[in-house]
Amino acid sequence: MINYQLNNKKAMVTGGASGIGLACAELMAFSGADIALWDLHDEALEKAKQSLSKYAVKCITIKVDVGNPEAVKAAMDETVKQLGGLDIAVNNAGIGGPSCKSGDYTTADWLNVINVNLNGVFYCQREAIAAMRKNASGSIVNMASILGQVAFEGSPAYVSAKHGVVGMSKTAAIEHAEEGIRINSVGPGFIHTPLVDDHLSADVLAILAEKHAMKRLGKPEEVAHLVAWLASDAASFVTASYYPVDGGYLAY
Ligand SMILES: NC(=O)c1ccc[n+]([C@@H]2O[C@H](COP(=O)([O-])OP(=O)(O)OC[C@H]3O[C@@H](n4cnc5c(N)ncnc54)[C@H](O)[C@@H]3O)[C@@H](O)[C@H]2O)c1
Repeated sequence: MINYQLNNKKAMVTGGASGIGLACAELMAFSGADIALWDLHDEALEKAKQSLSKYAVKCITIKVDVGNPEAVKAAMDETVKQLGGLDIAVNNAGIGGPSCKSGDYTTADWLNVINVNLNGVFYCQREAIAAMRKNASGSIVNMASILGQVAFEGSPAYVSAKHGVVGMSKTAAIEHAEEGIRINSVGPGFIHTPLVDDHLSADVLAILAEKHAMKRLGKPEEVAHLVAWLASDAASFVTASYYPVDGGYLAY
């Protein structure tokens, strides 16, 4: 693992109990940051916390639905209280939603995906900005996707939400740059996590692998390295940008 020199930094990661979020939390803990894991379920949070216990940092868990703005505010208050501030926010929690064409997509499914994947990132970003303003510094990394740049049949709500995350991140970044807060979004290609592996057949995974120049899916750690770098002081002049980590998917 590479150490991104995050000693004394306080970080929160939404969707931190699984997949990309957990990999980000682990790499930041390895790099010396105290971590608040935010996720939906106590059991998964406890397991994730256990997996970080080998690092000599503070790790707390916060059970929260990022799609609930009042709950997000309370979670941020608790995080800042327990960690003693906030330097890094990785707004990563997300869901896939059903595979269904736009003309057949139900209102309930649309609202659910948009609420978690777009509204949830907005609520977390807003509370992170409020917390970071106190120190006039911070780095926010919002998890978009390659599907924040290009279309994907059968995922209209997901694609819309991820395109929204990219634009929302750039807008917030230019608004808050002079306050010392950097905001970027990250666009993974298809990554082996429960979100993908538990829902797609081996045949579909093979077809998806072919869409990447490297002819494979990525690993959560490969996304985490980009996130940890964006979170670190090494990225001090980096803001208002979108960074793919996609094995060449977007080059086609
Ligand atoms: N895996 C991929 O191929 C891929 C590609 C591009 C982008 N992404 C994005 O990366 C992020 C993480 O995905 P992953 O693949 O690690 O998935 P994952 O399912 O392994 O992890 C997502 C985590 O988010 C949590 N979560 C879901 N809804 C939540 C809510 N309302 N409030 C709080 N937590 C919630 C889940 O409980 C889970 O622990 C998502 O935003 C996803 O869209 C994933």
